[in-house]
Amino acid sequence: MARTDNDTWDITESVGATALGVAAARAADTESDDPLIQDPFARVFLDAAGEGMWNWFAAPELPAEIVEAEPDLPLRMRSMRNYMASRTAFFDEFFLAATKAGARQAVILAAGLDSRAWRLAWPDGTTVYELDQPKVLEFKSSTLREHGAEPTAKLVNVAVDLRQDWPKALQEAGFDPSVPSVWSAEGLLPFLPAAAQDLLFERVTALSAPGSRIAVEAHGPGFNDPEVHARQREQMQRIRDLAAKLGEQRDIPDVQDLWYFEDRADVGDWLRDHGWEVSVVPAEELMASYRRPPADVEDSSPRSLFVSAQRL
Ligand SMILES: C[S@@+](CC[C@H](N)C(=O)[O-])C[C@H]1O[C@@H](n2cnc3c(N)ncnc32)[C@H](O)[C@@H]1O
Repeated sequence: MARTDNDTWDITESVGATALGVAAARAADTESDDPLIQDPFARVFLDAAGEGMWNWFAAPELPAEIVEAEPDLPLRMRSMRNYMASRTAFFDEFFLAATKAGARQAVILAAGLDSRAWRLAWPDGTTVYELDQPKVLEFKSSTLREHGAEPTAKLVNVAVDLRQDWPKALQEAGFDPSVPSVWSAEGLLPFLPAAAQDLLFERVTALSAPGSRIAVEAHGPGFNDPEVHARQREQMQRIRDLAAKLGEQRDIPDVQDLWYFEDRADVGDWLRDHGWEVSVVPAEELMASYRRPPADVEDSSPRSLFVSAQRL
């Protein structure tokens, strides 16, 4: 279904289901023989959400019928899993470094099923603000509460749409813009129109005292390449047709139906022009640094950049 300006979703629907896909990749890496990350809560979310195509990322093996029809799919999925694990490790390390340097307010934009507020060793006195749609945060909190998990920092849920007036909601929830903060935008920007992306960073900048930091998973060159997306869409449709024949009821919607393919500002340049000191690592380089290079299969190289910045 096409996006609309005010669309909403639950965890198994539309944009919400993509958070389950990421959780499945984290569960698979955590449970692998050679894990890069440790996210014991990813599996808890999958169990609570039940059956769905997102579980394929976490399954030891794909259905034989699917592998026969799409022989390169296991390699592609492994590559995607390595990307997600590298991305998770990058943001984990970023938050730990920023709090070590003194920040005591962390803001996770589009938190989804990110469990950092339950699994990172935050310094005493840290508050983690999680922003996402109400039903996504409700699923996450209730699932972890029932599991008996306790946050490792003071956790504040800010149930809000990031296209609306979230700075007001964040400050009403206790955020103080006069002291340094640390922010993340992971797995978020493609779901926002270009103008909403600019507005997001304008608002973050206005709320960030000198010394604040931000890390962003951003579009790199070729991210919106229509030929790549057409090939991926065709493959996804073939897989979805097969999955339906195998009785899979709930699937992850096509990202092509969820993302906004609009020309947009380069995040590193934007932040540099607005008073931040910036460094940028291409996704492939990041993955190589964790010894998780992308698979050597057509269209498997991620076209993202990992941006980190400090407010001057
Ligand atoms: C791919 S998931 C990533 C979640 C998390 N950052 C992670 O990496 O595990 C995308 C998340 O963005 C959230 N999201 C996307 N657009 C949003 C919006 N306009 N307002 C609030 N949340 C949004 C979705 O609800 C979902 O949880």
